[in-house]
Parts: sequence; C-alpha cells; structure tokens
Amino acid sequence: MRPSKPARRPANDDGHKRRRQMNEIETAPDLLASDPVPQPRKIPFEFPEDLDPQWIPGEPELVAMLNGASLTMPYLEPFLIRTMRAAVERLDDGDIKEQGRAFNTQEQHHFQAHRRFNALLKRKRYPELAAVEEQMKASYAKLSRRSLRTRMAYTAGFESMTLGVTKWLIEERIKLFAGADPRAVSFVLWHMVEETEHKRVAYDVYCALFKPTFINGLARMLGVFHGSFDVMRFAMRGYKVILKKEGRWGRVRSRLRLAQWMWAFVSYVFPFLFRAALPGHNPRRERDPQWVTDWLGGYARAEPGVVPLVDTLHPEMPVPFPVRS
Ligand SMILES: [Fe+2]
Ligand SMILES: [Fe+2]
Repeated sequence: MRPSKPARRPANDDGHKRRRQMNEIETAPDLLASDPVPQPRKIPFEFPEDLDPQWIPGEPELVAMLNGASLTMPYLEPFLIRTMRAAVERLDDGDIKEQGRAFNTQEQHHFQAHRRFNALLKRKRYPELAAVEEQMKASYAKLSRRSLRTRMAYTAGFESMTLGVTKWLIEERIKLFAGADPRAVSFVLWHMVEETEHKRVAYDVYCALFKPTFINGLARMLGVFHGSFDVMRFAMRGYKVILKKEGRWGRVRSRLRLAQWMWAFVSYVFPFLFRAALPGHNPRRERDPQWVTDWLGGYARAEPGVVPLVDTLHPEMPVPFPVRS
C-alpha cells in the first residue's frame, strides 16, 4: 500500500535530505511521494546583440563544444517532454504524474531559452548551423516512432549524462569560465542546476512504467548509451560547423586543444554513464555539487524570478545570491 502523501518540502530542507538518503535502498517509485517536486523557474535571460558567440575569451574550442551542445537542446528537450508526457499518461500514481509534469515544465523553459540563444548564434555568425538543426529534426521525428520503452530509456539515459556534465561545468567553473560573458555563463549554470534538481524523475518514471525484468533492465542500460551518444554526435556536428567557420578545424593546435577539452568532458561524464548502466542504479545516490545546493537555497530566499548574474571575474565564482547570514 502506498504511504500517505506528505506535505511538500523545499529541496534544501536538511532533515528531509537525511530521510531521503536513508531511503535510498528502497525502490525508486516508492520514494516519489517524499521527494520534493522540481520547481519551474522561468528566468528572463537576455541574449542581446552585443553578446559575442565566442563568449569565452581565448577558448574557441571550448565555446564551440558548449555552443554545439546548446544547439541540440531545442530538438532534444521537446522529444524528452513528449516522451515524458506519453509515459505519465499511462500511470495512475498522482505523485509520479506531478513529478513528470514538473520535469516537463523545467525542460520547456530550458529549450525555449536555448532556442533564443541559438538564434543569436546563427544570426550573428553561424547560419550554417541550420543544416545541423534540420538533421536533428529528422532524427527526432524518426526516434519518436520507436517504442515508449526505447524512448523513455533514451530519456532516462540522457539525463544520467547531464549529471556528469553538471559536475564538470560546476566543479571546473573557474578554469572554464573565468572572464567569460556572465550572461551566457549564468544561463548555462542555471540549466545545470535544474538538471540536478530533476535528476531522478525520468529514471523513476521508467521504473514505474516498466517493471524490473531482465529485458526492461537491459533496455534501460542501452538507453544510457543511446541517449548520451546520440546527443553527443549532434553536438559534435555543431562544433565542427563552428570551428570550420572560425577557420580552426584544419589546424593541429586547435585539434589538440579540442582533444584536451574532450578528454576533460569524457573524464567527468563517462563514470556517470557506466554507473547509470549498472543494475540497481539509482540517480539519488549521485551526490549534488554544493554549488548547486547553494544556488537552489539562494534562489528560494531571493526575490521570485530574479537571478543576479554569476560574477565570472570573482576568483571563486560563487552562486549569484547573497550568502545566508
Ligand atoms: Fe534541460
Ligand atoms: Fe533534464
């Protein structure tokens, strides 16, 4: 029998976090009733014409990688939303439905912001990216015809990759973003914070919909690599277009720098993929970066809808909210 539904608590409630950690050995769907619901935050990030598409000074390969990843979002995230919507429609549990809808609202805000950001990139310097967008449109239309199990495994699988990306971008933020345009950095890090906040939802929905059989477990494992590598391949097409346009694709020095950044990405992300593919995986066990917890706590105490920009010149690049006194 399901436990009665407790009152909702803020994500940064310490007592709640302890109880949640104690519950980690339970099966995921049973935990949904006690997990905080991800909060939608429609933050009015602005990408005015003076924002340089090369928004990290002196790091054209890194910015190409991040812009390439951004390019995928308005195609990937609507696919995740459609998949999640179809999945929760088949579930009776009100808590899971609420979690799934909150996931969708966050993803909707993400891809809408990325679409505006990408429009700036195309308008100002890289109209050639439209060809990659057409390829993604066709690819996701094709993927949408696959079974719900395949699509949901892809969704949960991609979400496991975002945790590794978040760890990379947050923990290495000073190395990556020192002196970068704070408007772009604040936008990227907000997305990562919310990815952490809803990290368990797609996995929980998959587990609730597809009972723990060998085949369903195998499908989920394959989804980790399907979702992650599919998005990576389009992000790589995006950065190739950008680096070609910048005249750097054929330069050895540029390729070496790109390889360095790719290695940094892989060293953070792949451990998350391998853990996610293991039987008994539970995204709750992935520890949240303290910066993420501080961001969520700071936002909860701040004026609604207002997010100050991250100070990319600060030696520690702290969360953009006043420290709790
Ligand atoms: Fe997202
Ligand atoms: Fe997500």
